[in-house]
Amino acid sequence: MKSLEWLGNALRILNQTKLPAEIVYRDAVSYTDVADAIENMEVRGAPAIGAAAAYGFALGANQYQGDRDGLSSFMEVVQARLEETRPTAVNLFWALRRMEDRLRECWDVDDLDDVRQILIEEASRIAEDDRRMNRLIGEHGNEIVPEKANILTHCNAGALATVEYGTALGVIRAAHTAGKGIHVFAGETRPFLQGARLTTMELMRDNIPVTLIADNMAGYLMQQGKIDLVIVGADRIAANGDTANKIGTYSLAVLANAHSIPFYIAAPTSTIDLKVPNGQEIPIEHRPDKEMRECFGVQIAPTEVNVYNPAFDVTPAKYITGIITEKGIVTHPYSVNLLKLMVRS
Ligand code: MRU
Repeated sequence: MKSLEWLGNALRILNQTKLPAEIVYRDAVSYTDVADAIENMEVRGAPAIGAAAAYGFALGANQYQGDRDGLSSFMEVVQARLEETRPTAVNLFWALRRMEDRLRECWDVDDLDDVRQILIEEASRIAEDDRRMNRLIGEHGNEIVPEKANILTHCNAGALATVEYGTALGVIRAAHTAGKGIHVFAGETRPFLQGARLTTMELMRDNIPVTLIADNMAGYLMQQGKIDLVIVGADRIAANGDTANKIGTYSLAVLANAHSIPFYIAAPTSTIDLKVPNGQEIPIEHRPDKEMRECFGVQIAPTEVNVYNPAFDVTPAKYITGIITEKGIVTHPYSVNLLKLMVRS
C-alpha cells in the first residue's frame, strides 16, 4: 500500500483519513488538489508531505497556460499555496525549496515542456531520496535495538508517513527482518488516531507483533518494565536537537527519562532545520476544534465545549538518547554533532 504514486500526469494519493476501514485514492491533477489533500491530512507524515508538495509543484507547472516569461510568477503562487497547508513539518518547505531552486536553474531552458519534465524528474528524485534514506535509517537504527525488545512508538512514522518503508517503523522493520524477535506497543495517538488506525495496520500487514494501547497507558507499562525502548519520528529537529513530533511525544520522553528507558528519534536529514536554533522557535500547528469534539463523525464531547488542539509538541534535546538519520546516529551534544552531520556528505 503506497502513500503516493506518480502516474505520469497525476499524483495518486492514498486517503489516510479513511484507513483502515476503506482504501480510497485521490488522483490529484492540480496543485490545489495536492494542497487540499495535505491540509485535510489525506496525505500526512513529514516526508510524505514533502514529496507530495514537490509533485504538487510539478503539477502547477503542468497547469500553467501562459508564455515562458510568466512561469516564475505563476510558480510563486503555486509555492505559496502549498506552503500554507501545514506549518510544522519542515520537509514541506525543504522539498519546495529544492523545487524552487531547480526551476531557477532552468532559466536558460526556453521550451516550457522541457521545464515541466525537469520539475517532474526533480520531484521523483525527492521521492527516490526518501526511499533510500529510510532504508539507511533502518540499517543504522537496527544497531541500537536489543534482541526481543519491546518497543513503544507514537503516531505513525511508517511507510504511510513517508514514500516507502518509514523512519521509526523503518528501524522496527529492519530489526524484525534481522530476526530480533521484537514486539511493538503502538499508542493510539489521540485525536487523529494515527497509531490505532495506521501503525497497527502497517505492522500487522508485515506480520510484526503489535499491541495497541491508549496514550494514557504508557506510564503504567513503563512502570511495569514492559517497555525497553521508545522510537518515534520527527516533524522538525532544531539546531540544538529539540524535536517537534506528534502531540504526546513530549510526555513519552519525560516518562521514558523517569524510567531510564532509551528514547530515540528516527528521521532523515531533510527533517533537520539548522535555521531554527531551538524548539521554542518551531511553529506548532493547531488543528480544527471539530477533530477534538468528534471522532471521525461521531460526537464525543458537547458541541460547544472549548477546545485546545495543538497537533505537535516539542521534546527538549536533553530527553533524547539519539537521533537516527540516514548518515548515522547522532548523540549529545546535538548543537555540535547535528552541524557536523549536516556538513558531512
Ligand atoms: O499530523 P501528522 O500525522 O502529519 O503527524 C505525523 C507525525 O508526527 C510523524 O511522527 C512525523 O511526521 C514523522 S513521519 C516519518
